[in-house]
Amino acid sequence: MGAKKKYLITSALPYANGPIHLGHLAGAYLPGDIFARYCRLKKRDVVYVCGTDEHGVPITITAEKLGKTPQEVVDHYYQDIKSSFEKFGMSFDNFSRTSLPIHHRTAQEFFLTLYHKGYMEKKSLEQFYCEQDAMFLADRYVEGSCPHCGYPEARGDQCEKCGKWLEPTQLIEPRCKICGNRPVFKQTTHYFLKLSKLQKPLEEWIGKKTHWRENVINFCKNWFKEGLEDRAITRDLRWGVPVPLQDARDKVLYVWFEAPIGYISSTREWAEKSGQPDRWKDYWMDPANTRLVHFIGKDNIIFHAIIFPAMLMGHGGYVLPDDVPANEFLNLEGRKLSTSRNYAVWLNEFLEKYDADSLRYCLAVNMPETRDADFSWKDFQARHNNELADILGNFVNRTFTFIQKYYGGTIPQRGRLDELDQALIERTAEIRDQVGRFIDTFQFKEATRRFMDLARFANKYFNDREPWRTREAAPEKCATTLHLCAQTTYSLAILMSPFLPFTAAKIWRMLQLEGKPEDAGWDRIGKPALQAGHPLGRVEILFRKIEDRVIQAEVERLQKIAAELEEEKPQPHQKPEEHPPVSIEDFRKIELKTARVLQAEPIPGSNRLLKIQVDLGRETRQLVAGIAQHYSPEQLKGKTVIVVANLQPAKIRGVESQGMLLAVQDGERLVLLSTDGNVSPGQIVS
Ligand code: 2FM
Ligand code: ZN
Repeated sequence: MGAKKKYLITSALPYANGPIHLGHLAGAYLPGDIFARYCRLKKRDVVYVCGTDEHGVPITITAEKLGKTPQEVVDHYYQDIKSSFEKFGMSFDNFSRTSLPIHHRTAQEFFLTLYHKGYMEKKSLEQFYCEQDAMFLADRYVEGSCPHCGYPEARGDQCEKCGKWLEPTQLIEPRCKICGNRPVFKQTTHYFLKLSKLQKPLEEWIGKKTHWRENVINFCKNWFKEGLEDRAITRDLRWGVPVPLQDARDKVLYVWFEAPIGYISSTREWAEKSGQPDRWKDYWMDPANTRLVHFIGKDNIIFHAIIFPAMLMGHGGYVLPDDVPANEFLNLEGRKLSTSRNYAVWLNEFLEKYDADSLRYCLAVNMPETRDADFSWKDFQARHNNELADILGNFVNRTFTFIQKYYGGTIPQRGRLDELDQALIERTAEIRDQVGRFIDTFQFKEATRRFMDLARFANKYFNDREPWRTREAAPEKCATTLHLCAQTTYSLAILMSPFLPFTAAKIWRMLQLEGKPEDAGWDRIGKPALQAGHPLGRVEILFRKIEDRVIQAEVERLQKIAAELEEEKPQPHQKPEEHPPVSIEDFRKIELKTARVLQAEPIPGSNRLLKIQVDLGRETRQLVAGIAQHYSPEQLKGKTVIVVANLQPAKIRGVESQGMLLAVQDGERLVLLSTDGNVSPGQIVS
């Protein structure tokens, strides 16, 4: 591992169709940034690239929704994403865009090489076409049920639920994303990437990647077991990189074919900007000396561990990924994020109120490395207040304040060291090595925890030494204590800089040192750096405590959305489950009766619930049912329905429900149970 000197680091290119949220950060960005910063501290030769992914159906769908052109959408989000990444401290060497000419050129050249090398095949096939919208429905323009797991909202390119890569035509009950109609089949031609031809070399290559994360290896193995199929990598769309062949001039490259090539074009752009346009080849085309590392979220494994390596192999000359550390997902307050429902924490908004470093710390310490993790506001507050402020901030602050107050703001002389002093020095070196090892093996959570251990150890050292007591009783001891605390602050600044770059820079200023902690280098950690007599700058508070009421407001905002989401969940009858048999006696315990709907009205604040009055023969009952998206109050009026009459009354959204309507969930539709012919209300159903 150590032999390769050059590091080519990438973080997944975010789609330019929405702002960045915390889930993105925990998946592909923060780990990439910590790693890149660490590598630079180790004086490795690093290029860290990213950029926005600006093609593909998600973007055109967003544009249609907003009544804008795709270009307007991506221009807006490119700026938005770029600036929020900067505020978060992402240290990309280049942040590009796939709509730039340099990317179009790079992707087209790549395609042509594969084409000329025989890795492309033109095939004629039938695809979904929407007659209403007069267009082929590529990828996410079709939705339906997943053929593998049954998830009803699967998209045409991939099922979000089980992660399987799909062809739109595999969807069960397909519907057009734009108009909802069922599409028809229509003949078209496409270029296919011959993945089947590359399966063997790929399998051999991945077989040697014993250091990869288990989730990634298992994912790949499953794919190989099923066999790699040739995949269409062109689309009948307008927005994208045009296919560079005469017979496909009206087609574009599939976004997942060209997006990873964006890593190459971003590096090319970086090289051009640096005035040495060929320099990108030093990284991409020197496999023997370069480690390529892709930081991604787990939904992107297939593309980075199989498809892109296959493309690179087929092309030839390129470095293949040395590792693909894919992270699992980040949940929010114990629930899956939903960007469409605003159940998310958006980076821009977050940074208006809180510090980037506090977020970086909280996400790093909870990183979803081997399993899904959770972001909760209470945990964020606790990490910030109890660890960053009370341990790290407190240690730095008391060191500076003490030196200002009793040593005129200059670092005191170090005297003889005793065991406890030695322990601090040894511990610093030990933790430096541990943190380094953990980062090098992509165990960022553990690395972050170790770094805080040093702050904790130092803070305890300060306590145990009681300088406020030794100041008069043993002045030499006191001076030694503060001298070592100042040196430890210096070490901590470097050690923390991959995780907390802003705080590290602040401490550097307070220490009145030249340049940045990054320039010092990792190996300076634990080495004496500050001379006695070195003057310190003004003390700044590193972390101000976050109050309960501030956090409470954040929690409440999410709780409100969560409650709405809960209500909108398709209710009962939804999933056919296997039940054990019941006796006829048990079945008879349920009183099913006919009822006539007298009146129905929406429940304010809910778009799913209706309050319904029914005639049950001898009595009138009030029911609450989650059918507002399927029946209007007018449609219901006068209908004869079946209700469970002896169900325990319940309050739903504060409204009493004295029974339950029976209905069938048929795919997307919900259909009420009724009787065949006119029946008077209140009759027993048996
Ligand atoms: O999942 C995503 O957000 C994709 N835009 C990631 C692309 S990564 C790379 F291949 F470009
Ligand atoms: Zn349509």
